[in-house]
Amino acid sequence: MSHQNLPKNSALTGPVLAIESSCDETACAILSSEGACLAQRVVSQDGHADFGGVVPEIAARAHLALLPGLVQATLKDAGMTPDEVGFVAASTGPGLIGGLIVGASFAKGLALSLGKPFVAVNHVEAHALTARLPGLVPGGAAFPYLLLLVSGGHCQCIAVEGVARYRKLGGTIDDAAGEAFDKVAKMLGLGWPGGPALEKLAQSGNPKAIPLPRPLMGRAGCDFSFSGLKTALSQKLAPYGLEPLPHQFAADLAASFQQAVADVVADRVTNALKMMPEAGLLVAAGGVAANSVLRARLEEVAASAGLRFAAPPLRLCTDNAVMVGWAALETCQEAADLGLPQPDDSTVRPRPRWPLEDMAARFAPQESVV
Ligand code: KG4
Ligand code: ZN
Repeated sequence: MSHQNLPKNSALTGPVLAIESSCDETACAILSSEGACLAQRVVSQDGHADFGGVVPEIAARAHLALLPGLVQATLKDAGMTPDEVGFVAASTGPGLIGGLIVGASFAKGLALSLGKPFVAVNHVEAHALTARLPGLVPGGAAFPYLLLLVSGGHCQCIAVEGVARYRKLGGTIDDAAGEAFDKVAKMLGLGWPGGPALEKLAQSGNPKAIPLPRPLMGRAGCDFSFSGLKTALSQKLAPYGLEPLPHQFAADLAASFQQAVADVVADRVTNALKMMPEAGLLVAAGGVAANSVLRARLEEVAASAGLRFAAPPLRLCTDNAVMVGWAALETCQEAADLGLPQPDDSTVRPRPRWPLEDMAARFAPQESVV
C-alpha cells in the first residue's frame, strides 16, 4: 500500500520508554524517535529452572519486584529524567496474563503520572518488526518479507506485508521448536533452558549417527510438528532406564535431533517462500534462531531462493524491550502516514491471545483494536 497521496501527520515524538513482561524476561528500553537505542536492560528471571519451565505466578511476581528498579536504572543509563520521556509503550499480549497485567499496568501508571500517551504493543508484532530497526539489516528490511519465528512459545511462518499487515502461512500443530529443544534437553539431563546446552553437546556428536523421523517433511504447506520427533528420541533412551547415558551416545542423539529439526525447518521454510513469492528477504527471530546449525540451513534456503537471510543479533532475537519500543514507533508512524489519529491505548486490556491477523483493525478507523 502506498501512502504517497495521503496528508502527512506527525507521529508521536519519542523518546519512547518501552516495557516487556510477557514471559520470564523483565525488560525496559528507551529509543529515540528515529529508533536509536538510548538504553536497554533485560533481566532473565531465575527461580524457574527448578521447575523445568516458566511458572506463570513466579514470573508475574518477579516482574512486579523488578520493574521499578529496572525502569529507574534504564532512565539513568540513558541520562534522562522521566519528564523527558515522550510516550510509554508495553507488550499487552500475547503471553502469560499475570506478567502482561503487571507490565501494562506499570506502563499505563507511568504514562498517566507523566501526562504522556500509552501505546499497546503486540509482542509477536514486535518480533516481526525487529529486523527493521535502523542499521540492523544492511540495506534495510523492506516489506514484504518472510518471518520465521522460532522460540519457546512460538513456531510460525509469517508473511510480513507492512506494519499491522500480517498473514500467518503456517505454524506448529503441537510443540514450539524451542519447547522441543527444552524437552529433549531435559531427557538428556541438560537442565533448562535446554536449547543452548543441547547445541553445545551436539558439537561433539555425529548428526547422522541415530536415525530420527522428520515430521511433515515433504508435505505441502508450512506447518510444523515436533512431538513425534520427541517421542522417537525418548524411545532411543528407553533401554538405558535410569542409568546415565554414555557421553558419546548423548552427543550423537543431540546432534541427530538438532539435524532433524534443521532439516524440517528448512523444508517448511522452503515451502513458505514458495507461498510468498513476493518476499524480498527471509528473517528469523526468536531464541531458537540463535542455533548455528539452523542458521546455516536457513542461509542455504534463502540463497537457493535468491534471497538474503537476516537474523537479528541474539539479544534482539530473544525477548527484549527494544523491539517493543520499535514496534510502538512504527505503529505511530503508520498512523501518521495514513492520516489517522495517534494511538491512545490507556484503556487497552492485556490479552493472553492476540492473533497477528487482528492487528489490521488498529488502522480501520471505525473499528477498535481492543
Ligand atoms: O525467544 P525466547 O528467548 O523466549 C520465548 O520463548 O519467548 O526463546 C527461548 C527458547 C528456549 O526454548 C531455548 O531453549 C531456545 O529458545 N534456544 C535455543 C538456543 N538458544 C535458545 N534453541 C536451540 N539452540 C540454541 N542455541
Ligand atoms: Zn517472544
